[in-house]
Amino acid sequence: MDRLSNRVAIITGGARGMGEATVRLFVEQGANVVIGDVLDEPGQRLADSLGERCRYQHLDVTSEENWTRVVDFAVAEFGRVDVLVNNAGILHIASVRDTTAADYQKVIAVNQVGPFLGIKAVLDVMKGQGAGSIINISSLEGLQSKNGLIAYSSTKWAVRGMTKAAAIELGPLGIRVNSVHPGGIHTPMGGATTSEPSEADDAMYQEVPLKRIGRPIEVANMSLFLASDESSYCTGSEFVVDGGWNAGQRMAQLPMS
Ligand SMILES: NC(=O)c1ccc[n+]([C@@H]2O[C@H](COP(=O)([O-])OP(=O)(O)OC[C@H]3O[C@@H](n4cnc5c(N)ncnc54)[C@H](O)[C@@H]3O)[C@@H](O)[C@H]2O)c1
Repeated sequence: MDRLSNRVAIITGGARGMGEATVRLFVEQGANVVIGDVLDEPGQRLADSLGERCRYQHLDVTSEENWTRVVDFAVAEFGRVDVLVNNAGILHIASVRDTTAADYQKVIAVNQVGPFLGIKAVLDVMKGQGAGSIINISSLEGLQSKNGLIAYSSTKWAVRGMTKAAAIELGPLGIRVNSVHPGGIHTPMGGATTSEPSEADDAMYQEVPLKRIGRPIEVANMSLFLASDESSYCTGSEFVVDGGWNAGQRMAQLPMS
């Protein structure tokens, strides 16, 4: 229960979904957590429910001014910033033809410029500490792609590349930077309307080797590993949490156990 004791983490998009699961897990493991989100009411309610070691701050990840304020807040409240989880994101599903330039730029602003600004915002604090862990939530769509995801997938590939550039530059300062690549996860973005997935939710994932949708906690557990010293020699790498979806396809004409 103390894998993150005395650590300070900023988690973006922490008001719901995977971010919320990560906030809950990090607090449970002893961290002080600042939730940054644009969903002020649920974000504040979550922070209040988790006690003194959790605070909520309004953070639009596209705003450099918002980032400066939130990092200053974390340092003023808790004294340092050890971990940044760049988790906030939006999904846009449309064909290439139907995706407008404005749609594309909006997704880039949140999913790509957002994490970039986050890395810049925590850089000096982490450099001063000589240590830090930045966890960028990309996607399976940052390793491959699907029709209808031209804007979303572009940003998730960008997050993967940004992670490597930052890891190379910041490694000598003691700052580790890794990307996490979830597959289909049961969150509001993933279409969830209930806390636990139903058989119908799992039915959509029958081509995935583990034959079910993932739970937010299963991604949060990966972020916990990357936030803690257990991952002390990991940087610039991709950590996939996808039930085996990225492994390949089953072929009916080949043997199967
Ligand atoms: N759910 C999935 O299947 C899945 C799969 C792979 C990757 N991801 C990624 O995981 C991350 C979390 O997704 P989720 O499924 O929990 O989604 P979600 O929609 O349930 O939660 C996303 C959170 O980000 C916040 N957010 C959106 N725009 C923001 C902004 N401008 N500034 C600050 N916060 C903002 C939202 O308010 C929300 O709280 C995202 O980056 C998403 O792309 C999700």
